[in-house]
Amino acid sequence: MKSGQKSKAMFDRAAQSIPGGVSSNFRYWGDDATLVAKRGEGAYLWDQDDKRYVDYRLGFGPVVLGHARQEISDHITEAMKIGNCFAMTNEYEIRVAEKIKKLTGVDLVRMSNTGTEATMGAMRIARAFTGRDKVLKFDGAYHGFHDYSLWNTYPPTSGVGYINSPFLVPQGSGIPRSVGDLMYSLPFNNKEVLEKKLKERWQEIACIIIEPLLGNQASIMPQDGFLEFVREQCDKYGIVMIMDEVKTGFRIAKGGAQEYFNIKADIVTYAKCLGNGFPVAAIGGQKHIMGEVGPGKIPHGGTYGSNVASMAAADKVLDLIVAGELDKVDAHGKKLRAGWKKILDATGVPYVIQGPDAMPGIVFTEEPVCKEYKHWADGDHDTYNAIIHKCIEKGVMPDYDSREPWFISSCHTDEDADFVLGVFEEAVKEVIS
Ligand SMILES: Cc1ncc(COP(=O)(O)O)c(C=O)c1O
Repeated sequence: MKSGQKSKAMFDRAAQSIPGGVSSNFRYWGDDATLVAKRGEGAYLWDQDDKRYVDYRLGFGPVVLGHARQEISDHITEAMKIGNCFAMTNEYEIRVAEKIKKLTGVDLVRMSNTGTEATMGAMRIARAFTGRDKVLKFDGAYHGFHDYSLWNTYPPTSGVGYINSPFLVPQGSGIPRSVGDLMYSLPFNNKEVLEKKLKERWQEIACIIIEPLLGNQASIMPQDGFLEFVREQCDKYGIVMIMDEVKTGFRIAKGGAQEYFNIKADIVTYAKCLGNGFPVAAIGGQKHIMGEVGPGKIPHGGTYGSNVASMAAADKVLDLIVAGELDKVDAHGKKLRAGWKKILDATGVPYVIQGPDAMPGIVFTEEPVCKEYKHWADGDHDTYNAIIHKCIEKGVMPDYDSREPWFISSCHTDEDADFVLGVFEEAVKEVIS
C-alpha cells in the first residue's frame, strides 16, 4: 500500500518537524504509506489526494456520531462565546456529569481530557482508597500511554513465560523496570489463574483494571461469568474494580459495558465516544469511593479538565445518544458481520468474528473462540493485514493494525455496507485464492 503523491509530500513535510511525521506512534504506517488527512464528513474521510475512504477507524474509535457532526460543532461554537478555561466549575460540566450519571448509573464523576489521564487517575484513586500499591491488569489490555498501563500489552507470546510464573514485558524502552514491580498481568477469561493470584497476593492489590472486552485485541469478549467472577473477587478481597470503558463507553450501549454486560464496577473510565473526537474523559464511580476524592483526601486535578469546548461536545453527544443514534450503529455492524460471514465461509479458511455489533473484529484463527491474548496473537495476522491493506487501497478503511476492531458510526448507511462488503469480498478473493 502506498500513499498518493500529495499525502506523501505532506508526510515528508511533517517528518521535518514532527518525529516520524505523526503525533502518535500508532499512526505510522511507513514512510511511503502513512496518509495525511484532508477532511472528514459523516462516515467518510478524504486524504490529501482527495481519495475518499469509508472510515472504520474513526480516529481509533471516538467518532461514533460521524465526522464534522453539525449539531456538535454548532453547540461548541455557541459555547465558545463564554470562553473556555476558568479553573472553575461551569454549567456545561455539571450538565455532562448529570447526564453521565443518568445513563451509566455511576454516583459521582470527575472530568479529564484523555483515556490515559482517566485510567491514571482511577488507579490513583484505588490506591489511595485501599492503601495498597499494586495494580492487576490483563494480558493484551491497553489502558493508555502511562507507565502503569504498558505491560503485557502486546508481548511476543513466548515472552510472557509459563502460566504459573508469568513475567511482565514492557511495551518499549523508557518504562522503568521498578514500575513493573507494582503490576500483575494475567490472561483474560481465566478464572483459575486469577483466583490463585488473588488468594496469594490480595493484600497488595489496590485494583483490578479490566477492559470489559479486549478492544485492543479485535474485541475478544468476556466468557460467560468472567466479569461477574472479577466483581465477586473484588468484593471478597476489598479490591477496587475499575472497568476501563474508554473504547466501549457510549458505544456498545447507552450505558456502556456496565449496561451491556449487566455488571457494576466501582470505578469506570470513559473517553473516546464521550466527545465524538473532542478531547474529553471522565472518571465515574460509586459514592463510597469517588466521594473520597477531594482536598486532604484523594488527589485529582488538571488545568484543562472540564474545559467548556470539551464539555459542550460531550453535552451534545450525550443528547444524541439518548435520542437513539446507537441503534443505527448496531444495525450497520450487524449487516457487516452477516456479509463477512458469507464471504469468509466461502473461503474455507478458519476465522472468528467477535465483539459487539458496534465494534466487531475478525481474527483468522483455528480457535473456535478467542478467549485471551494468546489466542489472538497466534492468529494469522499476515492474511488479515493483506486483506485490510487491499481494502484501504480500494477506499474502505478499517485500522491498518489487526489489533483494532472495526468501529462503526451512526452515519454509516446500508449503501455504504453494500459497497464495503463488495470491496471486502474482492480483497478476500485477491488474498485467499
Ligand atoms: C481501553 C483503553 N483505555 C485507555 C486508552 C487511552 O486513551 P487515550 O488514547 O485517550 O489516552 C485507550 C486508547 O485506545 C483504550 O483503548
